[in-house]
Amino acid sequence: APAGLADRFGRRATDMRLSLTDKCNLRCTYCMPAEGLEWLAKQAVMTADEIVRIVRIGVELLGVRELRLTGGEPLVRADLVDIIAALRSNHPDLPISMTTNGVGLDKKAAALKAAGLTRINVSLDSLHEETFTKLTRRPFLDRVLAGVDAAWAAGLGPVKLNAVLMRGINDAESPALLAWALDRGYELRFIEQMPLDADHGWTRRNMITAAEIRSLLSVDYVLSPDPRARDGAPAERFEVRRRVAGVAGPVDSGSEQLGAEGPVLGTVGIIASVTEPFCADCRRTRITAEGKIMSCLFSREEFDLLGLLRQGAGDEALAERWQDAMWVKPKAHGMDHTGLGAADFVQPDRSMSAIGG
Ligand code: GTP
Ligand code: 5AD
Ligand code: SF4
Repeated sequence: APAGLADRFGRRATDMRLSLTDKCNLRCTYCMPAEGLEWLAKQAVMTADEIVRIVRIGVELLGVRELRLTGGEPLVRADLVDIIAALRSNHPDLPISMTTNGVGLDKKAAALKAAGLTRINVSLDSLHEETFTKLTRRPFLDRVLAGVDAAWAAGLGPVKLNAVLMRGINDAESPALLAWALDRGYELRFIEQMPLDADHGWTRRNMITAAEIRSLLSVDYVLSPDPRARDGAPAERFEVRRRVAGVAGPVDSGSEQLGAEGPVLGTVGIIASVTEPFCADCRRTRITAEGKIMSCLFSREEFDLLGLLRQGAGDEALAERWQDAMWVKPKAHGMDHTGLGAADFVQPDRSMSAIGG
């Protein structure tokens, strides 16, 4: 068999994202409708043993080098700690990270670390109770903040925070969010909203673009490109320094740190999936909670890996199906300025929670 998870455009997926559940205990407006979604039946979702087998095939036969556990919300799975322990015992050196909304993380952080989880990313869109509750439709800000701190204390750092900016809701709070994160040594990333909400409420006008984010931050801060390699990561990273009051500098300051004063305070990331897509460098392969292979967040085609596994297929056959699925990975999502609104972009039927963040 050919090596690894290659596609027609010369990319190779080495970064596996596996969704543990489609369920979630928040209702973020950019993801889920207020009433939630119809959850998958329990038998439709991968068991712990099935997850462990699929990961082993990815790592041993297909060149997967990094694993990220996603959801829905991975913490709602009762056997989460056991799954991580089993994965860790099979793969002593595999980086295993998790993306979570942080609800309940305060109670689980130490156990996750002990089981072998490497690091964690937490969604945090606002530090204001009212705004947080409006965005997530649940009053859980304090629980999330406790979760973030517990993750850090348990050694699950570097902790990364994800903030999706929504016009008129939390966009003006972006510098305050950054100040808070810098203060605590967390790496905040601002994310352009993608059209992946179940309500199909995304509009180009309401999306806060990466350019706007840089300009919002540049009132208080000077950003300069982080010299570390981007390495296929969705986030473009910047070093952050304070801006001297009253000294306006260019918004995209490049390496010229005009108007900056004092030391580098930390880094901030900007994930510009829509306006500055990184599809050409994508290294991702995704498995949904019901064991379907998705070569891209926006792929229209799904390949049923779990169904084949449950029919008794051997490792080689499963690896081949996975390779077939990745071979037809789309070149790009098509929603940058030329795409969205034009006929060549169709919003997927699944919401982010049902794909796996
Ligand atoms: P690390 O950089 O390894 O910490 O992880 P990450 O940033 O890839 O993972 P995380 O799950 O925190 O994802 C952050 C954001 O990136 C998500 O909220 C999405 O908005 C975006 N994202 C994740 N995967 C993809 C992808 O395959 N395509 C695009 N366009 N965006 C993605
Ligand atoms: N656009 C961009 N990011 C999204 N997320 C969820 N829905 C969207 C969307 N429509 C992010 C969450 C979380 C991660 C799993 O995905 O903020 O950090
Ligand atoms: Fe849940 Fe994440 Fe979707 Fe928010 S973005 S509703 S936390 S799955």
